[in-house]
Amino acid sequence: MDHFAYRDGKLFCEDVAVERIAAACGTPVYIYSQATLVTHFSRIKAAFTALDPIICYSIKSCGNINLLRVLRDCGSGFDVTSGGELFRALAAGGDPRQIVFAGVGKTDKEINEALDAGIGWFNIESEQEFWNLDRLAGLRGVTARGALRVNPDVANRGTHEKTFTGKKETKFGVDIDRAGAFYRQAAGAQHAKLNAMHLHIGSPIKTTEPYVDAIHKALALIDELQRDGIVIDTLDIGGGFAAFYEGNEAPPAGTYAAAIVPLLQGRGLQIILEPGRSIAANAAILLAQVQYTKQGGTKEFVIIDAAMNDLIRPTLYEAYHFIWPANPGVALVPPNRTSVLRVAGDKKVDVVGPICESGDYLAKDRYLPALGRGDLLAVFSAGAYGFAMSSNYNARPRAAEVLVDGATFRVIRRRETYQDLVAGEV
Ligand code: LLP
Repeated sequence: MDHFAYRDGKLFCEDVAVERIAAACGTPVYIYSQATLVTHFSRIKAAFTALDPIICYSIKSCGNINLLRVLRDCGSGFDVTSGGELFRALAAGGDPRQIVFAGVGKTDKEINEALDAGIGWFNIESEQEFWNLDRLAGLRGVTARGALRVNPDVANRGTHEKTFTGKKETKFGVDIDRAGAFYRQAAGAQHAKLNAMHLHIGSPIKTTEPYVDAIHKALALIDELQRDGIVIDTLDIGGGFAAFYEGNEAPPAGTYAAAIVPLLQGRGLQIILEPGRSIAANAAILLAQVQYTKQGGTKEFVIIDAAMNDLIRPTLYEAYHFIWPANPGVALVPPNRTSVLRVAGDKKVDVVGPICESGDYLAKDRYLPALGRGDLLAVFSAGAYGFAMSSNYNARPRAAEVLVDGATFRVIRRRETYQDLVAGEV
């Protein structure tokens, strides 16, 4: 699952004790394991190899350019969702032809930047956007490739309503029953070619059925278009593969592939994947330090120096992240990472940050060993949508990011300073 493990009662990231990083860089700090990042990318690549897909790592999940460079060196392309993410992808040396650009509200400026970079595909979300792309490409005298994001209207019970996108009533893409007409009209465009299809049904998708349903619908549409002389040569099946938060709940890449590959093999389509979470989530912990403990009514609180501005997922999605002391001692090493873990002498606590909102928590009603001031706590599975969604709320400088590679570590983003907080305020 990852390269975070307890040795002699202390948490290590690969071959570095995380307490060493806390001593050198302070807390809160995001600690990434390069080996974990590479492992998860490689598993997806190996599982889908029969399709020879372009794997476009989804930058929104975790976009530090040092991590992007690691993935680029593994052969990754990039899924970007803004001009800023395009900038990151290019700064990391990403191959523009392996960049896909998604998003319902691309501005002219962003489209022009992507045209100038010569990206692979624009994932098109509306009629107006397509014709705007055609116009802007014409002004620059270039041809752009579009992939129509088709909303396949599939059901999925396991995904939070804020991150499920495959039903008609979301803002994403074009309803599948309107897509045929869209392609037929787009065939008349001069500068934007619409010969690709994009699906992204949500995140995380913990079973294979929604993919299978969506791909069946997409292939039926592709066949129908073919009969009308419209050739679709590329199918982007989006992201959404699950990661490990509570235990072993994420199907391995091979399980997704076993369901998906047979549907697509031999169809002559260029396949694109856009995984984010499944590559980045398990590649990092957020390491924090206990400031105080206290009682409030019947509740016990453990107050740490990380907060909802550092990791907003518990607050926003009621997301579960396993939390455990970084140096529990040999007797209290967790046997595995599950939500029901109990050890002798533990206490039911809320793990909270210092922000002035009662929504500021990292865990609720969690059994943890007795904790005291100065103890280090590791919040696991924090790599995806962790730092990437962090903010300066309550004028909190954002955490440092550290990358571990074997027995060495380096700061890949320095901790923000108070000066950084006001630097743009001219
Ligand atoms: N492609 C598109 C078009 C997407 O919108 C997304 C994620 C991905 C790919 C990558 O999905 P992944 O492989 O990471 O599941 N902040 C939420 C997740 C939001 C997902 C947004 N779109 C969370 O923390 O759970």
